[in-house]
Amino acid sequence: AGNEMWGGRFAAKPAAIMQEINASIDFDKRLYAEDIAGSKAHAAMLAATGIISPSDEAEIQRGLDLVLGEIEAGTFAFSREREDIHMNVEARLAELIGPAAGRLHTARSRNDQVALDFRLHVKRAFVETEAALGRLILAFLDRAEEHADTVMPGFTHLQVAQPVTFGHHCLAYVEMFARDRSRCRDAIARLDESPLGAAALAGTPFPIDRHRTAAALGFAGPTRNSIDSVSDRDFALEFLSTAAIAATHLSRLAEEIVIWSTPQFGFVRLSDAFSTGSSIMPQKKNPDAAELVRAKAGRITGALVALLTVMKGLPLAYSKDMQEDKEQVFDAIDSIGLSLSAATGMVRDLGVDVAAMRRAAGHGYSTATDLADWLVREIGLPFREAHHVTGRAVALAESTDARLEDLPLDVLRSLHPRIHAGVYEVLSVDASVRSRRSFGGTAPENVRREIAEWRARLG
Ligand code: ARG
Repeated sequence: AGNEMWGGRFAAKPAAIMQEINASIDFDKRLYAEDIAGSKAHAAMLAATGIISPSDEAEIQRGLDLVLGEIEAGTFAFSREREDIHMNVEARLAELIGPAAGRLHTARSRNDQVALDFRLHVKRAFVETEAALGRLILAFLDRAEEHADTVMPGFTHLQVAQPVTFGHHCLAYVEMFARDRSRCRDAIARLDESPLGAAALAGTPFPIDRHRTAAALGFAGPTRNSIDSVSDRDFALEFLSTAAIAATHLSRLAEEIVIWSTPQFGFVRLSDAFSTGSSIMPQKKNPDAAELVRAKAGRITGALVALLTVMKGLPLAYSKDMQEDKEQVFDAIDSIGLSLSAATGMVRDLGVDVAAMRRAAGHGYSTATDLADWLVREIGLPFREAHHVTGRAVALAESTDARLEDLPLDVLRSLHPRIHAGVYEVLSVDASVRSRRSFGGTAPENVRREIAEWRARLG
């Protein structure tokens, strides 16, 4: 007989290459804790419903604890012949406790078993990702508080647009990462159903209690359709899409850090802890951590596309294609965890050059919109005409390499006779940000109010 599990049907061993393409133990051993927890809950239910005897159950529980102990001690011999984590655990259980082990797989299939293990694992990953996002949000709130009044240029098209506060810029990231967090919560609520007991795909004639195992494993209840239970990988796709969106946010942050830390911008200084030097150029300090965070977004998005592509052609119910779900998800779990930790460290450590930000905020005629708005408010010009007058002011200033506030009053008056000295009050970057008090605007007082609201919301 070739195989411990299905030797009854098979006379010959698998080809070596079959074992190589088929065995998943090298990566799915990561599910050992979930697999054993699922088996323990299943065995307890089988005994409670009279499907197996109390003494067999006791032996199975004892044996599963031994297996868990061996795996955690690093003494468990994982075997590719035993294909995956499910059969590795069950075969070792049989070695340890004998015939009672053979009763564990009653009313169960590897199809519902793997769906269960993977759901539990992804659920935990969502919980951890949500917590890591919370830590990043707190880091941003601290920096926003510190820099509620720090003026920097806001950009569109990476061209200087209007002055903003660095605090407000930090709060933009708070909004993004808070949405990622709420995506984690939504997804947890949706995946919170236990597929255990769906068996191969059709359910089972044994009088099992799926509500009992679902509750024992911390789920809100059992899944409602046995075919869907073993076919569904939406929870994995939702993890990957949530992670891909969060990674995209992290990548935009990383890109800003890379740009801002160049000597040409000089807005921030990277801490030594999150940068590297060059082996040849002694002056260099490179933003490697930010660059790697930026790159992980590509990797995580790749995992999402890979699993969507694996799933799209599969008929119901289980197909072995679905074994390819795990490496993508495991890699994404590790990548998003690392990226979030590195980003949190970088945000906390970032040296902000307030003077350089302020200087840059004053360049590029960033208060031109303030001049146009003033012409509308003070002189009653239609905005389109104010825009035109301001455009001419910018052109004049540019021709003499001056700032808007350096233009003498008679020059401004040549553009419109009713302009008076009060205009200079709106041309400074501080006046500009202070004036933007509309809901959601960049004014320092808005920033302080938003920080307080976020802190209250986060508890
Ligand atoms: N290792 C398999 C997987 O990860 C477990 C389920 C196998 N089921 C089956 N009918 N071959 O998907």
